Amino acid sequence: ALHTHFTLVTTENELKFDQVQPEQGRFDFTAADAIVEFAREHGQQVRGHTLISHAQLPAWLNEGEFTRTQLIKIMEEHITTTISRYRGRIAMWDVVNEPLNSDGTLRESLWLRTIGPEYIEIALRSARQADPSAFLYINEYGTEIEGLKSDGYLRLAYTLLSHAVPLDGVGFQMHLTLEESPNPSALKQIMKQFAALKLRIDITEMDVQLQRGVGTHAERLAAQANMYREIARICVEEPACMVFSVWGVNDAHSWIPEHTGNPDSPLLLDEAYQPKPAFDAVMRVFGRVISPLSSISIHPDTTN
Ligand code: XIL
Repeated sequence: ALHTHFTLVTTENELKFDQVQPEQGRFDFTAADAIVEFAREHGQQVRGHTLISHAQLPAWLNEGEFTRTQLIKIMEEHITTTISRYRGRIAMWDVVNEPLNSDGTLRESLWLRTIGPEYIEIALRSARQADPSAFLYINEYGTEIEGLKSDGYLRLAYTLLSHAVPLDGVGFQMHLTLEESPNPSALKQIMKQFAALKLRIDITEMDVQLQRGVGTHAERLAAQANMYREIARICVEEPACMVFSVWGVNDAHSWIPEHTGNPDSPLLLDEAYQPKPAFDAVMRVFGRVISPLSSISIHPDTTN
């Protein structure tokens, strides 16, 4: 399923800090190497996810006591080592993941606490140095709805660019539920504001939870298909939207059941890798597209 249906692969957990540098100075790229090699064999692009995040940090980092200078050095070394290894093989990076609170202010984290708001620009600058041709992103959730968070996201992008920080794109994770669907015209407006800054806008981690929806299972699958269709269309119609990516190959490997504590079917393929109504809906949208840049993408589970 991964290589027949998808043209781009995102590492799910395999490039996160705790996996890549489990002990200070000891780097482990075994799992990430396997994914990058799989992608190469199948002619797929890779999104590198993610270098600097508030989450999934190793204990030595979380519990260690570092000065500002030391932590900047740790961050730069982590970024440089990781990006350099995949130079020319990983086309785009989520350099900073989920930097915002829901009110649009910067999220409290080890990085913000110890380094200050400049951690974002320091991270992006060292990423650019490590691979000048990779596209560098910030990636965030909850910014598809017009509000304080989407405003904060735009403000952050604008501030970075006005300081000549190397930022090429913003990710809209797009973790959705049937309960609340983004208003299409509002979302188009939000995207246009980023596009006006000449940024790429990727849909990076789409999934649509069925739990707490209304109606029969078939009705929910149809509603889910509509939401996928809507987002795929918006991406296709926005020239700056380069990637449409979902967070998992199929329902058996989605993070949602564990995250929410409930069974669910949030993805395009079911547990047996069979296409769901959402898959057909998305395929119909992308079937009409000629641009080779618009792609369906996915992160692999390690067995597929
Ligand atoms: C999730 C993974 O899918 C899970 O396996 C892991 O336990 C937690 O992280 N937004 C992100 C991703 O940017 O890194 C998260 O991935 C899902 C939400």
